[in-house]
Amino acid sequence: MLKIALSKGRIFKETLPLLAQAGIEPLENPETSRKLILKTKHDDVELVIIRATDVPTYVEYGAADVGVAGKDVLLEHGGEGLYEPVDLKIATCRLMVAGPVNAPPLHRRLRIATKFVNIARRYYAEKGEQVEIIKLYGSMELAPLVGLADRIVDVVDTGKTLKANGLEPLEHIADISSRLIINKAAMKIKHAQLKKLIQQLQQAVN
Ligand code: ATP
Ligand code: PRP
Repeated sequence: MLKIALSKGRIFKETLPLLAQAGIEPLENPETSRKLILKTKHDDVELVIIRATDVPTYVEYGAADVGVAGKDVLLEHGGEGLYEPVDLKIATCRLMVAGPVNAPPLHRRLRIATKFVNIARRYYAEKGEQVEIIKLYGSMELAPLVGLADRIVDVVDTGKTLKANGLEPLEHIADISSRLIINKAAMKIKHAQLKKLIQQLQQAVN
């Protein structure tokens, strides 16, 4: 049995056509079904539906053989025990530092609100800038509006969310897309099946 970990929403929607080209089609829709394990037309392939940030953990521990995760989530997780063989080129966005429009320069230690605390810590350490990092779990854009933080580190696509909240992108940290990830032990044990899947998905992307 091959278990593929996916998150609902954007990643599921954008991965589905790629999986279909590899002959993998779920028998149920996770947006309407409450089931967390979905059977597919392939007897020996199942989809496991989990939070986007949990995908690398499931694959690292081998609870799923394969997964699809944003590069932002992978950079934050650290990527231990994982292969990352295919850039699926879906859910593309940018990891940015953002702050209030026309904010004057601050001559004190900045407070940065983000769910990407490891990425933010690394980024500012490389710049040699001392900052205070505040961990949030969502709606980062709110933090500067209510005085919780001076800046945020978050993903930006159209920039509409920033704009709607009086914020602007300030610094580019990384370009983001979703990646196929594979458990290292599974890659050995299920080599033939996974090699075929990698080839099919790479072809679908091309
Ligand atoms: P969680 O539910 O675990 O907190 P999430 O809410 O960030 O995760 P999604 O919104 O489904 O999950 O995002 C999944 C991935 O899609 C992100 O990791 C990122 O790589 C990418 N992404 C996030 N927001 C956007 C966006 N506005 N446009 C394009 N891609 C995005
Ligand atoms: C993400 C992210 C930003 C927003 C950026 O949130 O956390 O808030 O998208 O996208 P934008 O630059 O196009 O506004 P989320 O996935 O919750 O929002 P979405 O589904 O509306 O994109």
